[in-house]
Amino acid sequence: MGLLRPAMEDILARHPSPVVVDAGSGNAYLGFILYELFLKDAAPDKDAPAGTLLSIEGRPELTDRARERAQRLGFTRMQFQTAHLEAATWPERIHLLTALHACDTATDDALAAAIQHGADHVAVVPCCQAEVAAQLKGKRPEVDTSLGMLFQHPWHRREFGSHLTNVIRAMTLEAFGYQVTVTELTGWEHSLKNELILGRRVHKESRPARAKLEALLGSFGVQPKLTRLLGVEPAGATRTSPV
Ligand SMILES: C[S@@+](CC[C@H](N)C(=O)[O-])C[C@H]1O[C@@H](n2cnc3c(N)ncnc32)[C@H](O)[C@@H]1O
Repeated sequence: MGLLRPAMEDILARHPSPVVVDAGSGNAYLGFILYELFLKDAAPDKDAPAGTLLSIEGRPELTDRARERAQRLGFTRMQFQTAHLEAATWPERIHLLTALHACDTATDDALAAAIQHGADHVAVVPCCQAEVAAQLKGKRPEVDTSLGMLFQHPWHRREFGSHLTNVIRAMTLEAFGYQVTVTELTGWEHSLKNELILGRRVHKESRPARAKLEALLGSFGVQPKLTRLLGVEPAGATRTSPV
């Protein structure tokens, strides 16, 4: 929780009614903790709500259970939406977006929404990712064909594809003006999916970062969902050739 404290304190200091969205929230455990620690007592009086927390989750039974729990606890500014992230109704303005282990490209849907809705902060811990591994199949980077050895075998392709996906996610945040920190969430004994990507918006955009991102996409001939959603194209035509 210490990793999210600076973002929570920042949005509470700078916005009268900040909106926190937890995407792919499951049982909404993270939302309950954030609400309890930072939002529950933030309202100076009941007529001046200070902050809402929206949990978006695809499985209705989880949303229903979490909504009932919030009602029992009197957490009136916790909201719940059952939706696939691709079709979710996002708040017009998001101040902090979190997505913990949102499966496969759900992390991309969450990050795209954060960027499009002006989130001041993002914190995502990606889950398994298969899309880029599939896009890498049969590719060989022309800039340096020996790099193709990094993903020749299916096992390596899966691992490298997952790594490349998260590199692209971090670079995309940078291209859209975020200062990015990549670190570990917890000890490896608790989870193998342990990469925490934190972003804090400091500019509207960064053209140099975008150029580097486009070059990387072009070098490997990939275009993951996040870049498609945001209209970021690989540099040049496909600069890869079949093995
Ligand atoms: C591994 S669980 C993590 C739950 C929670 N974030 C946590 O850390 O405890 C992933 C959750 O994301 C939900 N999910 C996956 N893809 C989704 C999507 N595209 N739209 C909405 N929810 C999704 C799943 O139903 C599941 O509850």
